Amino acid sequence: MILVTGGAGFIGSNFVLDWLATQDEPLVNLDKLTYAGNPANLASLADDARHTFVHGDVCDAALLQQLLQAHQPRAIVHFAAESHVDRSIHGAADFIDANIMGTYRLLEAARGYWAALPTGRQDAFRFVHVSTDEVYGSLAPDAPAFAEDHRYAPNSPYSASKAAADHLVRAWHQTYGLPVLTSNCSNNYGPYQFPEKLIPLLILNALAGKSLPIYGDGRQVRDWLYVGDHCSAIRRILARGAPGQVYNVGGWNEKTNLEIVHAVCALLDALRPRADGQPYARQLRHVQDRPGHDRRYAIDARKIERELGWRPAETFETGIRKTVQWYLDHPDWVAGVQSGAYRDWLSTQYGATDEEV
Ligand code: NAD
Ligand code: DAU
Repeated sequence: MILVTGGAGFIGSNFVLDWLATQDEPLVNLDKLTYAGNPANLASLADDARHTFVHGDVCDAALLQQLLQAHQPRAIVHFAAESHVDRSIHGAADFIDANIMGTYRLLEAARGYWAALPTGRQDAFRFVHVSTDEVYGSLAPDAPAFAEDHRYAPNSPYSASKAAADHLVRAWHQTYGLPVLTSNCSNNYGPYQFPEKLIPLLILNALAGKSLPIYGDGRQVRDWLYVGDHCSAIRRILARGAPGQVYNVGGWNEKTNLEIVHAVCALLDALRPRADGQPYARQLRHVQDRPGHDRRYAIDARKIERELGWRPAETFETGIRKTVQWYLDHPDWVAGVQSGAYRDWLSTQYGATDEEV
């Protein structure tokens, strides 16, 4: 079996659902259930004996040791993290704890467990660390996309904490020989994404008749990847990746934020037109920019394609259509995540009431 951390969050829950749909191997899912962890994402697994959910913290060394001993996983896939850049700007402490200390505790627990395994199982063991392209910082408009040897230059508390975690993971391989693999992926979108992130925020604000807040001029560029493709890349890295290696994962889909908002609005115009027949793009508002806002990310994903034979299955057009349709089809899930705590966040970040974000 495998141990997954953060498997109740956006990417983690997609990974758990895809794993159990495509493999016959059980998994243990350790998640602290922060505001971003949502048991509803895993509701379809309620009767699936292959899924063991453990409510706990990756910073809890005793719990980690006990879980590894009890379940004897052949691999760990580490998603658990604080993941939202804007929240890290409001307060970095949770990011330092979860992303740096959590990764350190998990590496130490894994090292102790792995060192005591018999040789065959030791050779087969893998620790997959799920990281981000944000560790590389911001690209000039005409600069080549991030390759694996791009220098680290994180600009936000979030990306700095992920960069620190990446360095720890590397060091545990170089120093102790732990068979780690790191993936640095671009922006994901798809089902179960918490609506603090751009794409689900746009969909839900549009449907609610609220403003569509675009930071600054909206010409920042992100490289968008459908979440199912990120999950297939991680499965491929786990199955075929070489220990100690880093793989950049991306969708070859560079888009400005303005292109994203217009794509989402056009789909909603077609799938769920406004009652007054006006285009959703009318709701677009430019708001104050994010401090330290990275201008451009782009991933050079040729290494994972060349060495592991991975390519994304979705184009941006197919992935964004599926995503918008998923949010339209899941009003109960949407209602569940729009709790009081979510409204508090909107008010903190956008400085407006629930009615007029
Ligand atoms: P998310 O915020 O949706 O989910 C994070 C999950 O981790 C939640 O379920 C939360 O409860 C859990 N968690 C947080 N702290 C924990 C702790 N101390 N112990 C146990 N569980 C804890 O995040 P996401 O968007 O699914 O991202 C998952 C991983 O992928 C993160 O490591 C993130 O840095 C990385 N990543 C995300 C993206 C993206 O676009 N979302 C892109 C590249 C990499
Ligand atoms: O690149 C990978 C990263 O992508 C992951 O490591 C992070 O966990 C994930 O949150 C994401 O980070 P971003 O900051 O790029 O994602 P976000 O959805 O917050 O913002 C995407 C872009 O949209 C960014 O340029 C900021 C902008 N934006 C965002 C929000 C929430 C807006 O213009 N308005 C908004 O209201």
